[in-house]
Amino acid sequence: MQSLREKWSPESWRKKNAVQQVVYTDKEHLTAVLSQLQQHPPLVTSWEIEALRKKLAEAATGRRFLLQGGDCAESFDDCKVEFIKNRLKILLQMSVILIYGMRMPIIRVGRFAGQYAKPRSASHETRNGISLPSYRGDNINAPEFTPEAREPDPQRLLHAYYCSAIQLNLVRALGDAGFADLHNADKWNLNFAGQAPYIQTYQGIIGKIYRALDFAKTVSDHPIGGLGRVTFYSSHEALHLPYEEAFTREVIHANAVYNLSTHMPWIGKRTLFEDSAHVEYMRGIRNPIGIKIGHDMAPSDLKGLIRHLNPLNDPGRLTIITRMGATKVEDVLPQLIDTVKRSGLNVLWCCDPMHGNTETASSGIKTRKFGNILAELEAVIDMHARMKTVLGGVHFELTGEDVTECVGGASGIREEDLNRRYHSTVDPRLNVSQSLEMALKIAQRYQNMETSK
Ligand code: PEP
Ligand code: CO
Repeated sequence: MQSLREKWSPESWRKKNAVQQVVYTDKEHLTAVLSQLQQHPPLVTSWEIEALRKKLAEAATGRRFLLQGGDCAESFDDCKVEFIKNRLKILLQMSVILIYGMRMPIIRVGRFAGQYAKPRSASHETRNGISLPSYRGDNINAPEFTPEAREPDPQRLLHAYYCSAIQLNLVRALGDAGFADLHNADKWNLNFAGQAPYIQTYQGIIGKIYRALDFAKTVSDHPIGGLGRVTFYSSHEALHLPYEEAFTREVIHANAVYNLSTHMPWIGKRTLFEDSAHVEYMRGIRNPIGIKIGHDMAPSDLKGLIRHLNPLNDPGRLTIITRMGATKVEDVLPQLIDTVKRSGLNVLWCCDPMHGNTETASSGIKTRKFGNILAELEAVIDMHARMKTVLGGVHFELTGEDVTECVGGASGIREEDLNRRYHSTVDPRLNVSQSLEMALKIAQRYQNMETSK
């Protein structure tokens, strides 16, 4: 690991090992696009980022809980009002269930407004003997299997910026007005979710919340304030380093450099290693950051990375997103938790039960089993409880659409259903019914732990 005295700058990552980067044929076009992006206004502010950082510090000690979720890969086609609203609705529904079950405030962070670039295991994809560059996310190339679609196009970075801005505009407006008001929680139901097995349970919770609000209003003789506004933060994998660099701005009043394209960027598993350009880039920005760690992370390496990325041990700076796979948690997580705990490192532990549980169905399609996702989550919840550490958040790939991408759950999606409504261009997401069910299961688990204390 390089010494901390080594000087950081927004472009110092260029001297490190930059994997998963795009090779553009038209370099001049790329330069022109990047300089345009540098002139464009930021998407988020340092004030918002600082507020999130403070909340994440509280989540690390069990006073709040992080719900991070959204698409694996956002698509330009989904930059549409209903899609954006539906995703907010499911995140709102899940957060109400978690607030009710866990009795603590929820921090809502979307994998949205910038989650466009994807790391890929293989640089090329072969179909029927034809090999083309892999799809790397909508800000790089297009998913269709043609040479034209797969050619990286710098113009797409501008399109990604505009789609992110459009989304954030709507998300902020909806969060500020009546849409997200808790008094309207019964209106967040998605049309097609009427049949979802857990919708009655959700309605029951909303009913209880309304009665409690009514009671408090009657007793205090005032309407309950502060329920009308909901903050959503944005997050994405900071994979495309030239794009991230274009939004790396010095904020004079804060005397710090921020990435102002998103509130909470994260480093993906494939780019988290010693000497990584991504680690170098993230070390110098003031945003709270996430790091995705898998079952192959050695405890001593994790300790080194944490110290390197958060040398002052600031609470709220670093979220460790574990994504082990349901069967690996027992073997691997205890040593990692133990090392971090013994070293006195301030981190927020968050569980991504999706990425270690991806498999290929017999038809060849990528899927995940609801049961395995839940099993990882429950194992991680129990592990932290046993080790007396705090699991401060969860991270899901989900959508507000009625897709059939993950199998299982009470709505009974089977392998043979996967082809019916499989829309994800990369990883399979939980649909509305599965997301609600997942939130209820987490809430239940915490309630059971509370009653057995
Ligand atoms: C992702 O979050 O979509 C992803 C690629 O995750 P990971 O880096 O954990 O594999
Ligand atoms: Co994914």
